[in-house]
Amino acid sequence: MTMPAHATKLAIDRIRFERTLRELAEIGADPRGGLSRLGLSQAENEARAYLSEASRAAGLYPQVDPAGNLLVRRPSADPQRPALLIGSHLDTVVQGGWLDGAYGVVAALEVLAVLSENEIECPREPVAVGFANEEGALVQYPFWGSRALTGTLADGGKACDRTGQPVERYLRAFGSDLNRLAETAWAPGSISGYLELHIEQGTVLERRRIPIGVVEAIVGRAIFEISVLGTAGHAGTTAMCDRQDALAAAACLVLKVESIAAELGLCRTATVGYLDVMPNTTNTIPGTVRLTAEIRDTDGERLRTAETVLRSMAASVAGSRDLSVTVRKAHQSDPVATDPSLRAAVENAALSLGLACLAMPSGAGHDAQIVAMAAPVGMIFVPSKDGMSHVPAEDTEADALIAGANVLLHSVLALQDEPGTFQHGCAQSASKANDRRQQSGYQLTPP
Ligand code: HGY
Ligand code: MN
Ligand code: MN
Repeated sequence: MTMPAHATKLAIDRIRFERTLRELAEIGADPRGGLSRLGLSQAENEARAYLSEASRAAGLYPQVDPAGNLLVRRPSADPQRPALLIGSHLDTVVQGGWLDGAYGVVAALEVLAVLSENEIECPREPVAVGFANEEGALVQYPFWGSRALTGTLADGGKACDRTGQPVERYLRAFGSDLNRLAETAWAPGSISGYLELHIEQGTVLERRRIPIGVVEAIVGRAIFEISVLGTAGHAGTTAMCDRQDALAAAACLVLKVESIAAELGLCRTATVGYLDVMPNTTNTIPGTVRLTAEIRDTDGERLRTAETVLRSMAASVAGSRDLSVTVRKAHQSDPVATDPSLRAAVENAALSLGLACLAMPSGAGHDAQIVAMAAPVGMIFVPSKDGMSHVPAEDTEADALIAGANVLLHSVLALQDEPGTFQHGCAQSASKANDRRQQSGYQLTPP
């Protein structure tokens, strides 16, 4: 099926796109700075409601599935056609930025609006998605929405927040419940592909002054809930030799976790981001400390080795300080490669817009790595200012945001105009990309 000639000239509506992005950034604003639009919270419900309204205003049809995912279709959508999902997540971390997730969702809505307004025939029905609770910052279950949509929630029903409040409480807040979760999963084969536009959240594109990143692989991640169980006691009357100080032990462990990546180089990153000290008072020796450790890498084997070392480090701290340290793996997501055909479509779209692009890995996790269990996936990056993300200072140049959204639009178009599978279709566009790459000489291989 060949696209109408004017399709190559299509562009997103900058005014509408920027207004929606800015208005969405008001929802979940944290008085301490940044955004705390936490997954499955009331603020995320408000974001769904706002974007549903914005979708209707653009002549699109929104709906919210039982897991809290926002799904938006064009009026002409044909459910018989394989879907091409485009989107990202609605939620943020605590005091996070205005673009992580939100940018990809708003861009997807804008792409749908442009395709609808221009009555573009799409054999692969573009459907915009705003996934719920990708971060897992409130209900401790990262990738909640994308796991529900791909039918891989597994023990999702047991998810809860840090105070033990069950996920059911949050589902009921928007009229859903655990029994309806099964309705969320899409039938195998119904998703012909998924494209996610996202800020890079790192410094590579900005430093290399390249406007578009073509993601080749997304890191896998393992999150461990660690409990250090010592003995609380009087800070003044307990002799140093008689102590089982849980915080001193945890401090050793924090530095050991860091060394797994920083010194031993066993994985790409290793981070302790959460630490809870009990009873957390000045003149009491901490009896219990709970912390989380997360490790990431694009190689599953390296992740497994890093986990083994982490567990042995915890055991050695426990032994040397005569206390107990328990390590529970709370979350695991596998590293995934993106689909070559989708990468070619993104490269070709960037080239057709005169934008240089760079093939690169993603150090952040994304819903795309979950959807990869059900369909071929692709990701498009735009630069992040100073590589900052998950902080209030997260930002990207306005023109770069527009460029990325137009690359998403033309990637979706590129995936429409070839019959058959992506492989066949974009193999040609891959060769087109190769030909033009020779001419332009820009680099696609990672640094
Ligand atoms: O943590 C991550 O990599 C993502 O932002 N959820
Ligand atoms: Mn994030
Ligand atoms: Mn994200």
